Amino acid sequence: MTIRDNCSLADRNTFGMDIRADSLIDWATTDELKNALQGIKKPVLMIGGGSNLLFMGDFRGTVLHSTISTIEIIGSTDDRVHVKVGAGVVWDDFVAWCTVNGFWGVENLSAIPGEVGASAVQNIGAYGAEAKDVIDTVQTICLADGSERDFSNAECRYAYRQSIFKNELKGQYAVAYVIYSLSKVPQPKLGYGALEQEVERLGGPTLANIRQAVIAIRDSKLPDPKVLGNAGSFFMNPVISEAEFDAVKNSYPDVPSYPAPGGIKVPAGWLIEKTGWKGCSLGPAAVYEKQALVLVNKGGATGADIKRLADTVIADVKEKFGITLSTEVNYI
Ligand code: EPU
Repeated sequence: MTIRDNCSLADRNTFGMDIRADSLIDWATTDELKNALQGIKKPVLMIGGGSNLLFMGDFRGTVLHSTISTIEIIGSTDDRVHVKVGAGVVWDDFVAWCTVNGFWGVENLSAIPGEVGASAVQNIGAYGAEAKDVIDTVQTICLADGSERDFSNAECRYAYRQSIFKNELKGQYAVAYVIYSLSKVPQPKLGYGALEQEVERLGGPTLANIRQAVIAIRDSKLPDPKVLGNAGSFFMNPVISEAEFDAVKNSYPDVPSYPAPGGIKVPAGWLIEKTGWKGCSLGPAAVYEKQALVLVNKGGATGADIKRLADTVIADVKEKFGITLSTEVNYI
């Protein structure tokens, strides 16, 4: 376990905000976390790769980060495998491991920034797949009393970018391990956008080709946080009613849309592009030129700078379409 006091978090958040925490604890085992919880300075913030956070200032409390980095096969049948993965494993290292070992289910989620623990909290998703489709159990430690608790997939209450860990039980449980159920039998999911075309171009739907295609599509649209600070999609795609959708379609017959539980999902990137914000800046914060869903730190932006831009974009989308965008990024 490493404990650092008055520690910079500049390399712990993908926006690259140079803010400090009173204390930063990297814990490597569940026993270390249980020990650290005794007398811990509150409030407590749990982070993974810091790829979905926007710090509004210094954090006057303790930041907890897991470095559990094991990947272990714990069960296997003819067609499925159960893999127990430490919360601190870099998400894409796990995807690469699955690709090499012939395990299907996470290949469409290649190159998503962040770590395994946070992927189970945020229910990350891309190209028609979501973490919830392959999560069997989330093994956690209760911050209040150090007890262990396993959550089944159903208990996690997963929905689009949502889970019980972001809602009812927010901030109460630290993820230690995630157990995934993966397929040994090929199960390519190529229905989303340009994916199938790119996979065919590479020679067909093998795990390696799907991974390579997803990485190529992402690279062409999404900025590398090491070069340009960002947190991926800043906003969630809104789900609107049929009536709201018809109103948009009347004025914009080309509006893209997808059926979703509870209504119709419209890409926030498209809505933002129509307001004219794509590629535009407000001070050191900007709407990324190739994907309007992403806000970037052009250098030296504070949390307040990014928030000012986000609030302006939200207001303009509201005024133009009557639709309220919510953020996928969590303000701290
Ligand atoms: N679009 C625009 N202008 C833009 C961006 C998008 O018109 O600036 C349109 C596109 O033309 C397309 C539609 O919006 O018709 C959807 O675009 P895209 O396929 O790029 O996906 P998205 O809805 O913008 C979502 C996820 C991404 C994920 C992609 C691919 C959310 C909030 N975002 O983006 O997730 O990679 O689908 O599956 O659901 C992330 O969460 O950090 C993330 C990058």
